[in-house]
Amino acid sequence: MHHFHLLKAARVKKETNDSVNIGFEIPQNLRHEFAFKQGQYLNVRFVFGDEDLRRSYSIVNAPSEGNTELEILVKHLDGGKVSTFLNNELKEGDQVEVSAPMGHFYTHYHPSNEKTYIGLAAGSGISPVLSNLKEALYQEPKSNAYLFFSNKSINDIIFKKEIDELAAKFGGRLKIIYLLSREKHSEDELFEGRISAEKLSQLFGRFPEIPVQESTYFICGPSEMIKDISGYLKNDKKVPSLQIMYEYYAAPDDDENAEMSDEFKAIPNIESMVTLIIDDDEYSFHLNSKKKSILDQALHDKLPVPFACKGGVCCTCKAQVMEGEVFMEKNFALTEDEVERGFVLTCQCHPTTNVVMLNYDV
Ligand code: FES
Repeated sequence: MHHFHLLKAARVKKETNDSVNIGFEIPQNLRHEFAFKQGQYLNVRFVFGDEDLRRSYSIVNAPSEGNTELEILVKHLDGGKVSTFLNNELKEGDQVEVSAPMGHFYTHYHPSNEKTYIGLAAGSGISPVLSNLKEALYQEPKSNAYLFFSNKSINDIIFKKEIDELAAKFGGRLKIIYLLSREKHSEDELFEGRISAEKLSQLFGRFPEIPVQESTYFICGPSEMIKDISGYLKNDKKVPSLQIMYEYYAAPDDDENAEMSDEFKAIPNIESMVTLIIDDDEYSFHLNSKKKSILDQALHDKLPVPFACKGGVCCTCKAQVMEGEVFMEKNFALTEDEVERGFVLTCQCHPTTNVVMLNYDV
């Protein structure tokens, strides 16, 4: 289980007009718990009135940088209470509730590797991609990296200064290609627009030295971009799935008014007794299979369940099925192996047997 700790926002720096870079100081006694891998994320928690709001933000730094702060980037979203507060109100020295790093958006590096890593990021999707590319370059002196990074305009390019400095520091091992969708910054049309399968195919043509099939890819952006690019890499370029890592930066196709899927409509309409194991304690409640998700019912009953995105993206609400069966609506976070081992995202789960037991402590 992931508990929240109060951390000091040691650095709060406006990065672009609509984003802020926050560095949390990790005190000595929490260094072990907050040890992280490149590409992981933190959950932050705010209680505004009677609302308990949680959000996930990717870590920007790389472990090899040896920073004692954990840095995140928060893009302001219209109507987003947490992102508005963090962009407009948070001051250096303020305390924020933060839980330990989580997530699987990374690969393992080794100093003897001679690989090529390709980062494909849109807007604030840069954070976990940059963390991974930095770690690769620090840990693997013989590896190279490319970053294809799309933004609306030059002024919207998040971490531009840091990225340009990294490119200079790694002396040709890191190549940066900025794409702009609403501003012309080059005579060359290749550098206009967004990242798409078509654009990537053109970029591969321009950089023929890239070993497309052997490279490892880190993709972070909106769901259409991820689907388009990962499909192209897998199907057209025959890149093995294990070399394509992606992270959604919002719940894909998230729409509270979205129609029930046909699969959800088809589950039996039953009353179930759901038991949750949380920190060695057991909690039980009745739930109709067609009503709330298991997580929503648990939150309604004020049970101490972990959650953040509620959209099947962040994996914070993961639990293992110990008894019975559930239907999981969406899954953008668990691996096939985890699903086979009975792990589920409780924010997406509905019971399909009369008795269900889930364990959050695994
Ligand atoms: S709360 Fe994020 S996947 Fe369930």
